[in-house]
Amino acid sequence: QVACQMDTLLLGKNILVTAGPTYEAIDAVRGITNKSSGKMGYAVAKAALEMGAKVTLISGPTCLPSPAVDKFIPVVSADEMLRAVQTEVSQIDIFISVAAVADYRVASICLQKLKKPINNLSIELIPNPDILMTISTLPKPPFCVGFAAETQDLEKNAAVKRNKKKLPLLVANLAQDAIGSDENELILLDDDGKHILPKAAKIEQARRLMKHIHLLYNNKLKK
Ligand code: CTP
Ligand code: CA
Repeated sequence: QVACQMDTLLLGKNILVTAGPTYEAIDAVRGITNKSSGKMGYAVAKAALEMGAKVTLISGPTCLPSPAVDKFIPVVSADEMLRAVQTEVSQIDIFISVAAVADYRVASICLQKLKKPINNLSIELIPNPDILMTISTLPKPPFCVGFAAETQDLEKNAAVKRNKKKLPLLVANLAQDAIGSDENELILLDDDGKHILPKAAKIEQARRLMKHIHLLYNNKLKK
């Protein structure tokens, strides 16, 4: 029988998704963060569930209602997100890193609210760990999928990222089109080249993406 049921394609597979921004505190009441609504990551989690996967969603702060995943882990900072990912990763077949992780955090967080007057306030920032690369370069990594939001040279920058992070699949989109929007256009980069998913609702894109991931993942298992 050729026809296959969409809702069982990923049955028994454990999928970990990170979504939303991370928030890096400056003091008790302020912080720095990335522009991210969480919509794409939550749509990916939903699409994976629809295909029968067991889904763990690790999410930075968003305004979205918690989706009906198997396990929902809310986090705030990149460090917290990394620790949550490391706790889950041994159980995972596929890791989809959709989160807009802050690349830097504040070197020393002030526990109280910083008070005025301050003329020139400088804040020392130090790099955050790269969560996706920490996982994708493990000796036996799960199947890792990255996202790249770029403002220019989309395909070139995304291809460099895919190589650097050793990813079988990288999903590229233009930041100015995608962030906060309900729709986006995606370019999937894998070993076969590029596949364009023309502009559509994020849930539709997530479903197309999950089908592509299913194909690549199965091919990898056959090798
Ligand atoms: N990522 C991550 N941890 C980080 C930074 C990024 O896990 N500290 C992941 C994102 O979830 C995404 C991919 O890496 O899947 C690419 O993120 P992006 O911000 O586009 O790339 P960077 O490598 O951070 O490079 P830059 O921001 O300089 O473009
Ligand atoms: Ca980044």
